[in-house]
Amino acid sequence: MGKRKLRVALLGQGFMGRAHSNAFCQVKHFFDVPFDLELRVLCGRDRERLEQMAATWGWAETATDWREVVTRPDVDVVDIALPNALHAEAAIAAARAGKIVLCEKPLALNATQSAEMVEAARNVPTMVWFNYRRVPAVAFARRLIEEGRLGEIYHYRAVYLQEWARRPNLPDTWKLKRAEAGSGVVADLASHLIDLALWLNGPIREVTAMTRTFAPGRDLEDAGLFLARFENGSVGSFEATRFATGYRNRNAFEIHGSRGMLAFNLEDMNRLRFMDASEPDSLQGPRDLLVTGPGHPYSENFWKPGHIVGYEHTFIAALGDFLQALARGERFRPDFEDGHRVQLVLDAVERSAASGVWVSVPPR
Ligand SMILES: NC(=O)c1ccc[n+]([C@@H]2O[C@H](COP(=O)([O-])OP(=O)(O)OC[C@H]3O[C@@H](n4cnc5c(N)ncnc54)[C@H](O)[C@@H]3O)[C@@H](O)[C@H]2O)c1
Repeated sequence: MGKRKLRVALLGQGFMGRAHSNAFCQVKHFFDVPFDLELRVLCGRDRERLEQMAATWGWAETATDWREVVTRPDVDVVDIALPNALHAEAAIAAARAGKIVLCEKPLALNATQSAEMVEAARNVPTMVWFNYRRVPAVAFARRLIEEGRLGEIYHYRAVYLQEWARRPNLPDTWKLKRAEAGSGVVADLASHLIDLALWLNGPIREVTAMTRTFAPGRDLEDAGLFLARFENGSVGSFEATRFATGYRNRNAFEIHGSRGMLAFNLEDMNRLRFMDASEPDSLQGPRDLLVTGPGHPYSENFWKPGHIVGYEHTFIAALGDFLQALARGERFRPDFEDGHRVQLVLDAVERSAASGVWVSVPPR
């Protein structure tokens, strides 16, 4: 018997449109995927580029009206890679039409919207593209924490540092408009930090935040910093900025516990620094692990040990894991529920930045 066919509609033809198209094309080469993926329709707004992109990545058709696409009977999966302000409306329409829904981060503009998305998608499989969970070194960090190798966690420190928004003469982009992006660097980059923190270190109870807009006339923040208290008793500090002159895309965390420490930086994404505090004092110090196998997450899927992987593999691995969970009838993480939990922290950060006081994060 042939594999079950899944007909995919991708909304968005930009940066993530390409990253997702690549994942849809590649996933069967690296994962045992129990579905036959058909790239049915690519939806965007720039007609000329749309045709080019469809031809490059093998999309059968193109469309310019996402509303018409999400209810099409010949579509099983709707993948949303649109500007943030369109996520909720598109996802809710797709879920109500019974589609499997994949959505880019941040899930929504705020937690009210994301709660509505969770509700609408209660009976369909969902996924949020928090792809950094699927960096092999990050997945390995989670395994080490689960094994208790860090002991009791004291500190969780995370930064996401970019520099592009400080430049003059930037092209017109929705990412710098509050109405389309929701907020600035907090929604865009701190959302990734929060997802990883919740996954690696558990729930955040409360936050205190500050934001700053450096560019004159901009209606959203260029930098956002906050402190957090985690449910497990550890303390966290987070910094996200698009004004970190000298850093293009430094997404990094460090975790210190009673038995060891871990450090990761996306700019050197195949490595994880690990220190085992049970070693003799004279030998203690972070060691650099090349997380490409043997025995590391995804090393059976990609290349031989020592043969590094890149940014695109994180999307391929996310999709591979999603499709395998779907075939087994299991819940995939991060799903809309997880995206909503990130949104609750983002809302608390915004409220704290506005009020200057500590703000509790509601549990759901
Ligand atoms: N997971 C990640 O690491 C990551 C990285 C970058 C962006 N993102 C997220 O992905 C989403 C898209 O970001 P991007 O960087 O690809 O943006 P982008 O500007 O490169 O692409 C957005 C696309 O949406 C299309 N679009 C806009 N309005 C539309 C409409 N009404 N109908 C149809 N198409 C429309 C545009 O034509 C464009 O192709 C955002 O939510 C962003 O936060 C995630």
